[in-house]
Amino acid sequence: MATSSQGKELLLKSLLVLTALLMAAPLADAADLEAGRAKVATVCAACHGAAGVSVSDTIPNLAAQRAGYIEAQLKALKEGTRKNPIMNAIAAQLSAEDIANVAAFFATQPGAAAAAKSAFLPNLAKSGVTFPESYKTTFTKYHTINFPATKQVRYYYANGAALQAAKGDQPLPNGSVLFAEVYSAKLDADKKPLTGGDGFFVPDQLLFYTAMAREAGWGKDIPEMLRNEDWNYAAFSTAKEQRPVNQAECFACHKPLDKTSFTFTLKQLTDVAKTK
Ligand code: HEC
Ligand code: HEC
Repeated sequence: MATSSQGKELLLKSLLVLTALLMAAPLADAADLEAGRAKVATVCAACHGAAGVSVSDTIPNLAAQRAGYIEAQLKALKEGTRKNPIMNAIAAQLSAEDIANVAAFFATQPGAAAAAKSAFLPNLAKSGVTFPESYKTTFTKYHTINFPATKQVRYYYANGAALQAAKGDQPLPNGSVLFAEVYSAKLDADKKPLTGGDGFFVPDQLLFYTAMAREAGWGKDIPEMLRNEDWNYAAFSTAKEQRPVNQAECFACHKPLDKTSFTFTLKQLTDVAKTK
């Protein structure tokens, strides 16, 4: 039977244990600001800026945002209950610890003026893709897509290396080039796109080109969370000059397609390749 002094001792011990637990809990949970800063500098900075001031009008600033809100959004983006093709691909690769760390880091950054913007990260702005001068004669046109929302029609081309691999059901190798012409659609009197006999919008003006291509070593300067093996991405003006693009966005959206050579239209390419 416990004496009253034993009872007191037990109570004191329990209190000590409880106090230790209460003090340890916040320590174990405490975010690692340095780890947060490092993750942001290599990955998130490509779009949100190294100090949470984003690189474009379509990407939110995170500087001075509340840590709890950032964590909740990243969890929702990771689980897919909040949908965004770019951020779903990124958040899926973050651990609970990463989420706590980056959230705490952004929360410590001072808010910025509305017009402030960060520059693209140089390693993500620089693309190895050059304009394929002879695509009209040497590439194969394998697909066409109407874009009703933007009133555009796009034509997709592939070079020999990509076509050859697709024909043999092989992953697209280094040396592959996929290329798209983007045209505005001809509009009728009601400003609706005119459809031609082939079921596609009738092209009006060439607007720009987009491309993805891969060569050995092109992935080496790209952080692992964004890298798609050796693929690089580019956009070209009608004068065939590279337009500045933030490849981070291209990488993130194409990243989940690692089973199909990071290519959305691989099936169409394969179907056409097998007829050749
Ligand atoms: C390729 C560009 C890109 C990269 C890299 C990127 N983000 Fe984002 N992020 C976006 C875009 C675009 C949105 C807006 C999504 C939307 O409209 O729903 C966004 C939204 C968010 C949001 C929600 C903000 C809000 O106001 O609701 C959080 C939080 C976030 N990103 C955190 C991160 C973190 C942390 C990283 C790095 C691990 C990161 N992002 C990397 C493009 C990017
Ligand atoms: C929001 C997601 C998203 C982003 C960001 C994105 N793409 Fe794509 N991309 C697609 C989808 C979806 C397709 C399938 C065909 C289509 O809709 O044009 C595609 C197709 C392509 C293709 C044809 C080959 C293929 O994968 O089917 C090229 C080339 C391409 N994109 C280049 C780019 C470049 C360059 C960038 C960055 C400037 C970029 N993409 C950014 C979603 C995206």
